Amino acid sequence: MQLAGKTAIITGAAGDLGKAMARQLAENGAHVVMWDILPRAAASAAIKSVQAHDAAASYAEIDVRDRAAVERALDKLPRVDIVCANAGIVEAQPFLDISADAWQRHLDINLTGCFHVCQAAARKMVAAGGGGRLLLTSSWVAEIPWPEISAYTVSKAGVNMLVKQMARELAPHGILVNAVAPGIVNAGLAGRQLREEPQYAARVAKAIPLGAPGSPEAIAAAMVYLASPQTAYMTGSILTLDGGCSLFQFDG
Ligand SMILES: NC(=O)c1ccc[n+]([C@@H]2O[C@H](COP(=O)([O-])OP(=O)(O)OC[C@H]3O[C@@H](n4cnc5c(N)ncnc54)[C@H](O)[C@@H]3O)[C@@H](O)[C@H]2O)c1
Repeated sequence: MQLAGKTAIITGAAGDLGKAMARQLAENGAHVVMWDILPRAAASAAIKSVQAHDAAASYAEIDVRDRAAVERALDKLPRVDIVCANAGIVEAQPFLDISADAWQRHLDINLTGCFHVCQAAARKMVAAGGGGRLLLTSSWVAEIPWPEISAYTVSKAGVNMLVKQMARELAPHGILVNAVAPGIVNAGLAGRQLREEPQYAARVAKAIPLGAPGSPEAIAAAMVYLASPQTAYMTGSILTLDGGCSLFQFDG
């Protein structure tokens, strides 16, 4: 129960990685606040799975693009110690076909959403005397181009720099900022692509040195580690769990 007494907000908490994070944070004693754009009814299974470990876990329908809604929801919380800025989308399109709207949607949700949630939470942490953890979900493709997801990779590259920038500026307030960078997980965004896009599954079959996609539980365990006392001297880091995907590979 290393997180007993801490309050943790998770965005994208109804999704596959977010609900695993919420569950494991609750298992470690944190009080969990789940935010997602989905209506409560659509998130009910995720909420139940988290409430099995934190009976007081709450859920709110929050769009991370809506700064006013984020601030209102934060105002209602007595405290916030840990933020997992995890909400995200991916829409696969060849570079030549990406619409301006799709490009903007990725930046708004994946990057500016993290800015809104982290800045608003950091202000609350500073006002409460400082201290806290801002944890973001990046991706191994923040640094490695992957076909047909240019808007996504660019948004995650922005997330990595946001982590480093916030880590530097918030260190004097005792706020530590780090990220997990998952590889290809057989759930959530990549899980959908694996099921629905044959060309994606064919690429994935050759891309993972360790031979298989990762699990939401492994990513969530890394998030708990970044929230824990063991990482009290760590800030500005991107913790990659990608089965070796980002190691440079020659064909054959
Ligand atoms: N699944 C993977 O292989 C993988 C790999 C690397 C990184 N990631 C990252 O993990 C994070 C979680 O993704 P996932 O794989 O669990 O997918 P998911 O689709 O299961 O979960 C994403 C959640 O974000 C929510 N969301 C979308 N737009 C939102 C908004 N505007 N405001 C609030 N919530 C919103 C969705 O409703 C959904 O519940 C994302 O940031 C994603 O980029 C996933």
